[in-house]
Amino acid sequence: MPIKFPFKKDKKHPRTEPLGLEESHIPKHVAIIMDGNGRWAKNRGMPRIAGHKEGMGVVKRIVRYASDVGVKVLTLYAFSTENWKRPKNEVDFLMKLPVDFLSTYLPELIERNVQVRTIGDFDVLPAHTQKAVKEAMEKTKDNDGLILNFALNYGSRFEMVHAVKQIASKVQQGELDISEIDESMFSQELYTSELIEPDLLIRTSGEQRLSNFLLWQLAYAEFWFTEVYWPDFDESHFEKALYDFQNRKRRFGGV
Ligand code: IPE
Ligand code: IPE
Ligand code: MG
Repeated sequence: MPIKFPFKKDKKHPRTEPLGLEESHIPKHVAIIMDGNGRWAKNRGMPRIAGHKEGMGVVKRIVRYASDVGVKVLTLYAFSTENWKRPKNEVDFLMKLPVDFLSTYLPELIERNVQVRTIGDFDVLPAHTQKAVKEAMEKTKDNDGLILNFALNYGSRFEMVHAVKQIASKVQQGELDISEIDESMFSQELYTSELIEPDLLIRTSGEQRLSNFLLWQLAYAEFWFTEVYWPDFDESHFEKALYDFQNRKRRFGGV
């Protein structure tokens, strides 16, 4: 059945004609590389952090929309293991964003039955960032609606090297034989072990690269790119991405 989902119209986000998404064919797991905040701000003569702040509002809209259309998992790339290279004031701002985001938005996430999770090297994040995110995870852990999965201090290579070390150590301890190592076991050592694989990857801002995001997990995902900077991304772009996904033919190596 085709579905139509209303979303809040305003001057900045006029509602376009609904494209008519097929309810039975919504991607279960959508991963997004939210890129272009800095350039968005620069174009307006504003500091880069103004772009990050604006981008936070977009996260709220997109989470609502994803949960309305029945996406099961939404993984958002919020901070990469390489983003520590940025100026200190920008890194500090980015580490405060989860605190700001959750302080205003956690009640709605709870009301919407959203479960908050993270992937990435969590323990090295600043204490205030950890505290806000842990609180959100704790308060939403029993929710069974949309899984909102933040990639925070996430790097795919780090993740895979960590997995290799875990497996190697089991072999060394004699708990595991090399012949038992297979793809499914490797997947079980990744941060995403409890999640289904992404069906659709979206990247904004015109860049067409993965920047160390979910290299293993995206093996068979559909990729969708847009020139739009993340702070300008809205429900109509997301709807178009889902619509295009629905019109692709996935073959998984078959015919
Ligand atoms: C994405 O926007 C947000 C993060 C990486 C945290 P950028 O900050 O990378 O924006 P650009 O790519 O410099 O425009
Ligand atoms: C990827 O964007 C990381 C996030 C969106 C969090 P970057 O802006 O860091 O990627 P590069 O540097 O353009 O590859
Ligand atoms: Mg960028």
